[in-house]
Amino acid sequence: MLEVKGVTKSYGKLIAVTSVSFRADYGETIGLLGPNGAGKTTTVSVIAGLLSPDSGEVLIEGRQVKSDTDPAKLKIGLVPQDMALYDKLSARDNLIFFAALYSLVGAKARQAITEALSLVGLSDRAGDKVGTFSGGMKRRLNLAAALLHDPQILLLDEPTVGVDPQSRNAIFENLEALKKRGKTLIYTTHYMEEAERLCDRIVIIDHGKVIADDTLQGLHKMLPVTNVIVIELDHTDGFKPEQMLALSEVKSAALEQGTLRVGVHDLSSGAPGILRWLAEEGHSYHHVSSEQLPFEFHPGTTRISPRKR
Ligand SMILES: Nc1ncnc2c1ncn2[C@@H]1O[C@H](COP(=O)(O)OP(=O)(O)O)[C@@H](O)[C@H]1O
Ligand SMILES: [Mg+2]
Repeated sequence: MLEVKGVTKSYGKLIAVTSVSFRADYGETIGLLGPNGAGKTTTVSVIAGLLSPDSGEVLIEGRQVKSDTDPAKLKIGLVPQDMALYDKLSARDNLIFFAALYSLVGAKARQAITEALSLVGLSDRAGDKVGTFSGGMKRRLNLAAALLHDPQILLLDEPTVGVDPQSRNAIFENLEALKKRGKTLIYTTHYMEEAERLCDRIVIIDHGKVIADDTLQGLHKMLPVTNVIVIELDHTDGFKPEQMLALSEVKSAALEQGTLRVGVHDLSSGAPGILRWLAEEGHSYHHVSSEQLPFEFHPGTTRISPRKR
């Protein structure tokens, strides 16, 4: 359905994305997960044809979208990260404007608008000025705008940022309804729990590169570590962290400048065995602490240690 192949895009000297590749099949929901600045918006903008890549290509049903007037482009709907709505116009009038951008007018436009408003649950607010809407309602109206031309593929760029939990839920329900209708969704977020709830597959992007692309199950197998024991060793000569993988509780082990980081599922059951092993092997240490390594992103950092298979 949709194939992103080796897309690279720079802004001047800054390389925003490098060789990004992934695919989305018909009816599939792909999570594009990554921290701020990872390159999500750039990727989505290239798919939507708003930016042309320096190299690589985007194929829709096996064909490259050539121009704005290419009918393949109509298969795509974009819900941008930054909303473009007119506060002084009613919800319906905003949608009339967006419909016209797709040459939808008259009865066809009216029907598309009625359906889109109903899907996002804003039918009863259609006549109200958008300026009176909450952040969540605006997001839902933005979603409605992207649906007017009935695209098969919907690109959603962080659609829940800045919305209250109730609206977030409403947006999720809207997206679940679209999924049921067989739409292909590309859902951009930096919240793992959002990707988990909605997506069939998750593509993790960090510093402009795809670092994982798997089903949720596959990712959990690869990233089962939830806690890290951080041990400051006195000496590191000859210390081989990979030896620790022989311990059943150890999921990952890495040594960097005297700091040993050992990933375990459970801190209380993992820590004693690890410290005992260090003592038995004659490795002394001067400080031990622990960190959570959640399977999610904190803005600006991505900490993932794939398990040794
Ligand atoms: N128009 C732009 N000009 C220059 N740099 C940009 C521009 N847009 C994005 N960037 C940079 O490109 C990188 C990727 O940005 P972006 O695709 O917006 O990431 P994300 O959506 O994951 O937060 C960031 O380092 C960002 O600062
Ligand atoms: Mg972004």
